Amino acid sequence: MQDLGGKTVILRTYEATKETGLFDEVYVVTDSEVIFKEIELSGGNAIMSLKEHDCGTDRIAEAVENMDVDIVVNVQGDEPFTSKSGLEQVLSVFNGPDAEKIDLASLMTEMYDWKEISDPNAVKVIVDKDNFALYFSRSPIPYPRDKNAAVQYFKHKGIYAFRKQALLDFYQLPMRSMEAAEKIECIRYLEYGKNIKMAISNTQGIEIDTPEDLVRANKVLKEDKTITVNNKYRNFPMVPKVIFGRGSFDQLSSILAPKRKDKAPFIYLVDDVFKDNEDLINRMNLRFNDKLIFVSAEEEPKTEQVDNIVKKIKGEFTYSPSGIIGVGGGSVLDLSKAVSIMLTNKGGASEYQGWDLVKSKAIYHVGVPTISGTGAEVSRTTVLTGPEKKLGINSDYTPFDQVVLDPDLTVGVPKNQWFYTGMDCFIHCVESLNGTFLNEFSKSYGEKAYDLCKEIFLSENLSEVESRGKLMMASWHGGMSIAYSQVGIAHAMSYGLGYVLGTKHGIGNCIVFDHLEDYYSEGVRLFKEMKAYHNINIPKGICSNLSDYQMNTMIDIALGLVPLWENALGDDWESIMTRDKLRELYLKM
Ligand SMILES: [Fe+2]
Repeated sequence: MQDLGGKTVILRTYEATKETGLFDEVYVVTDSEVIFKEIELSGGNAIMSLKEHDCGTDRIAEAVENMDVDIVVNVQGDEPFTSKSGLEQVLSVFNGPDAEKIDLASLMTEMYDWKEISDPNAVKVIVDKDNFALYFSRSPIPYPRDKNAAVQYFKHKGIYAFRKQALLDFYQLPMRSMEAAEKIECIRYLEYGKNIKMAISNTQGIEIDTPEDLVRANKVLKEDKTITVNNKYRNFPMVPKVIFGRGSFDQLSSILAPKRKDKAPFIYLVDDVFKDNEDLINRMNLRFNDKLIFVSAEEEPKTEQVDNIVKKIKGEFTYSPSGIIGVGGGSVLDLSKAVSIMLTNKGGASEYQGWDLVKSKAIYHVGVPTISGTGAEVSRTTVLTGPEKKLGINSDYTPFDQVVLDPDLTVGVPKNQWFYTGMDCFIHCVESLNGTFLNEFSKSYGEKAYDLCKEIFLSENLSEVESRGKLMMASWHGGMSIAYSQVGIAHAMSYGLGYVLGTKHGIGNCIVFDHLEDYYSEGVRLFKEMKAYHNINIPKGICSNLSDYQMNTMIDIALGLVPLWENALGDDWESIMTRDKLRELYLKM
């Protein structure tokens, strides 16, 4: 009944569980009239226990005895930050190949800190090869005879999913000695030969067992509220070191030398268009066990691709690398930023898609753009497509530690690509300069980049060398402009195209922007002029054969990018950009 940011802990837990949308019914089962009333008065479902019970599981067993249910999940009442992904994982095992064998399922999380492993308050679990629990204990299990034994420790998390029968059985089985000794409920199942399947979840929640936990939880809740992307003040990092100029790429090895750690290699992630470019590869000057990985930028980076590269690096080297060097366009730069983050953070890349979710500092990472316009070399984000969403890992640890801006590296970019990527920069400026988040900081960068783009794409007397240098700086300024602002409608809609059709970011922006004259009239007019001047044909009708399902997904993805719409259309954006309006725009393209 303690207050947590204006609501009781129990009500928050109830609401969080309901909000996951995973359950047919959610009840609070309690022996306390105060709690019962709290839930009922807030419009929720509560059940009063009839009997006295030793533990929550018994209480739940009594409550569901006469209910027609298949699977029952016990969420502890003191877990208001219950995450959907954890519950989803624990439920998913009942759809797995060994579902028949499972009596109940629970969660575990990887542990690394010996202090925590040896702490009796943290319950450890060991599993067989199929992740069925072998034993739970407050002792470190298995005991490592050699301190550096390669074994993964798992901590048990108190979320259970039962088949109804297993739950009812539990109720009737008397406690035996091992459970009594360890004071761990689920040992009872093992003692009676039941099968407990463990799912792995690495998302951290906060359980509230003590007054200190409550203080911590209140703090988290408060911080969560202030970490919105459109807050007035942002203390954001900038790229600390940058070198500019034709031929500056040759400085790379002397820049890297002091950053090399003993036997730890530098990993170069290079766009595979350079596979046969011996000159460029020689100039990289790989030493010792440095590794070159060619990556395809054919498709936009995916969280899975990031995870695979990280796995490959960890599998090959016992040392964490000295650094990651990304050489390529926006996709390769984003991939490099994400890999450098995931080398020091647990779990998968999709767990960090969003704002400020990264916990540990990334390893040293360097960006070398070979196409200008995306602003990826300077931005605080990395755009990634995950299983559920297309969203960047936006964090203080994302920006590069070093950037090398060598305009000569952009020689040979195909004309269409040059145009689409340059327009990405131009569109960044239009969206930032017309947005509601704009301030003088953003404006100063945005205006400069906007003017540079006009000059590059519309003036007749600019040499190619000048144009390349200017576009490189336009990209930088365009990226800086959104650091304190945000992109808008074209980007939101382009993300939808990218997610459903795989349309690449630059061309997607152009397809969309061509039809946004109602929102960005002057910008779109100039865009059409540039398009005509360079004889660029923008693909048409790409949404005309979408199924309803695809169209709805596209709309969901686009509308999910709330800060972009807020920036473009203000607080009231939802009444301006309805689903119908958005569908109409997509069909027009
Ligand atoms: Fe962009």
